Amino acid sequence: MSEQVTRRQFLGTSGKAAATLAAGAAVHTMLRPARAADANEKFNVALIGCGGMGGANLNSFMNTELVNVVAVCDVDQNHLGNRVQQAEAKLGKKPEAVKDYRKVIDRKDVDVVIVATPDHWHAAPMIAAVAAGKDVYCEKPACHNIAEGRAMVDAAAKYRRIVQVGTHQRSAAHMQEARDFIRAGKLGTITMTETYTWGNEAPDGMGNAPDEPSPEGLDYDMWLGAAPKRPFNRRRFHHSFRWYFDYASGMVGDWNVHLQDIIMWTLETPSPKAVSTSGGKFVLPDDRDTPDTMLATYEFGPGPHTPSGYVQLYTMRKASGPPWSHGGYGMVFHGTNGKLLMRRDSWEVVGDFKDWGDPNKGRRVEGFNKPGVDQHLDHVKNFLACVRSRQKPIASIEDHFQTVTACHLANVSLRSGSKIYWCTKTEKCYKDPELKTPDAVANQYVTREYRKGYELPKV
Ligand SMILES: NC(=O)c1ccc[n+]([C@@H]2O[C@H](COP(=O)([O-])OP(=O)(O)OC[C@H]3O[C@@H](n4cnc5c(N)ncnc54)[C@H](O)[C@@H]3O)[C@@H](O)[C@H]2O)c1
Repeated sequence: MSEQVTRRQFLGTSGKAAATLAAGAAVHTMLRPARAADANEKFNVALIGCGGMGGANLNSFMNTELVNVVAVCDVDQNHLGNRVQQAEAKLGKKPEAVKDYRKVIDRKDVDVVIVATPDHWHAAPMIAAVAAGKDVYCEKPACHNIAEGRAMVDAAAKYRRIVQVGTHQRSAAHMQEARDFIRAGKLGTITMTETYTWGNEAPDGMGNAPDEPSPEGLDYDMWLGAAPKRPFNRRRFHHSFRWYFDYASGMVGDWNVHLQDIIMWTLETPSPKAVSTSGGKFVLPDDRDTPDTMLATYEFGPGPHTPSGYVQLYTMRKASGPPWSHGGYGMVFHGTNGKLLMRRDSWEVVGDFKDWGDPNKGRRVEGFNKPGVDQHLDHVKNFLACVRSRQKPIASIEDHFQTVTACHLANVSLRSGSKIYWCTKTEKCYKDPELKTPDAVANQYVTREYRKGYELPKV
């Protein structure tokens, strides 16, 4: 018997989940109060999306010793089985295994939902979960496109749910220390920042693969969701989906979102006022449609630590540059006193100097290394503490929306071939800094076409 969910079923029989969505206002009054203050009470957790990051999330949640894993969900039977085993091995109890996420949403006993599906499948389960009174830990980048992110922010606010995004660098103690160093003004006035993700996949990239029948045990139509229907292809599937615009946003949304987040969080700035991007698919011969080379130049307006605003550069090369372990990624803040470089294991300041003859100038003046700290576990702990206290988590969906908007705008500028002026009020692109002439070409990339039957729930 086919386990495929037909589109008619998706539209017509989503049962309690659909009713819950439709009756949003009524649900709001029925929401459970914040969990009891009893710090020993365990949360019932369900995982949606059982691939690589689903497994990493499950581990961290279980390592907090604050959760029961009551359900795992995936449209691919193989991945589903892996996570059932993982949970049973650690907690001694088999979670329910389901292929349709709406069954997870319908379960009354689920307190917390982890969303670790591909990017194009974050918004629908997240919105359904908060509408049903659940708190959500959602993987980054939270949304496939900017309009979707806005719907997620609105849903979290409307249903008053705690939503943490998986940008776990915020929970790294050394990044918090570097942030405080900058916010205390020790780097002087910041005028420019940089993020970069480099690596070398030349000459083949990830290679190409022929279309083929979808594997046994996979509900491929459901995997595609809102994305256009097309034959199954392994390159456009598990893990490597991130290199196709149908499902994700390429390197700027996948990896740079972590880095961009630290810049904007540290400097307390909302999304940029302008973005101009150059780049394209210059070298790699595989069929990905996201670029292998990118330079995005952002203009940010004034903020509490950047009185005149600042310029941010993102450089991405997938066919030239050292690997991660040899300096292939990082975040740099340039201030009037020097520069501060941050990575996942360290930060350091190199002071500026005016006298090149003085050997003591331009040296590393301050820094911090804390290898071995589990920032991901700390991030999950922060989320669960906020689920308990109902306080805003360290990487809330509202905060993340600003960061992810910046990341998506780099692609909007590249794909539309123009410099974008962004209005934070209308959340639209304009052709002029006065925000008078909407940019119709760019604005089509602010949202997407949703395949019939997989439209986003209304918030
Ligand atoms: N925080 C981090 O550092 C970090 C690291 C890696 C990945 N991620 C993010 O995690 C997410 C997943 O990435 P991944 O590398 O684990 O991908 P993956 O392809 O390994 O796993 C995704 C899983 O979701 C399943 N899925 C797809 N549609 C579904 C649906 N409708 N319902 C239920 N399951 C569905 C897939 O079958 C697959 O098992 C992405 O958004 C990615 O950006 C975050």
